[in-house]
Amino acid sequence: MRNLNQDNITQAVIARFSSTPDARLKEIMTSLVQHLHGFARDVKLTEGEWEKGIDFLTRTGHITNDKRQEFILLSDTLGLSMLTVAMNNDKPAGCTEATVFGPFHVENAPHFELGEDISNGAKGAPCFVRGKVTGIGGEVVAGATLDVWQSDDDGMYDVQHPGIDHAQNRGVLHTDADGNFHFRSTLAVAYPIPHDGPVGQMLMATNNHPWRPAHLHFRIQAKGYETLVTHVFRDGDQYLDSDVVFGVRQSLVADWVEQADGSYLLAYDFVLNPAT
Ligand code: BEZ
Ligand code: FE
Repeated sequence: MRNLNQDNITQAVIARFSSTPDARLKEIMTSLVQHLHGFARDVKLTEGEWEKGIDFLTRTGHITNDKRQEFILLSDTLGLSMLTVAMNNDKPAGCTEATVFGPFHVENAPHFELGEDISNGAKGAPCFVRGKVTGIGGEVVAGATLDVWQSDDDGMYDVQHPGIDHAQNRGVLHTDADGNFHFRSTLAVAYPIPHDGPVGQMLMATNNHPWRPAHLHFRIQAKGYETLVTHVFRDGDQYLDSDVVFGVRQSLVADWVEQADGSYLLAYDFVLNPAT
């Protein structure tokens, strides 16, 4: 095809993908082209602006490495991560809601026995976390695998600290025969997502802050149930209504109750959706 113009190029590009063998890939490519071209037409994108866009994406790639995932931050701050979570986790009423995974989970975190301290030297006020994992009918889920991770008192995950090469404030535990779990950790605090890169510049240019309300991450896996990826958010946090990644759900907000000795207690139960 030659002499394409702004009125027929979109159909020509879509036709180029028309013999894609994988039907789902074909659907995705077709829609992507339609929406990308629609966006360019909508804003009457100039060549200079698209050059800046490519520069932004290039810098997003360059700053990304095994410790820093700028593309996840971009997806999160554009609400695309949370939209995808919301579309794919429509659970029956009563189930614990899901929220964004984020870039700071680490596979194969250290294993802990119930009651142990996962902080491993992380800075922060001591905190005791306990709860129960059940199914939607109230049946206890014994032996569920809980992956938990959180920042320290400086608002940094262990993997963000240049000087720390061991796990802190993250671990894997299993519920007991009654579906209960408990462990020690540090008090969750609000923190800004990494904002010294292109995503931070985008937030600044659009008059937005980079903060997430204080939270504790959980991934819960159990045979016969859908995996739950979620966090518990700390009630009273000033960023609950302006989370930079749009992840807060009211059902996930809980109280970290201060104890007489200055430590904190978080009690939160999880309800899993049966696997289909
Ligand atoms: C997090 O909660 O760890 C997180 C989520 C999205 C972007 C950055 C951090
Ligand atoms: Fe987090």
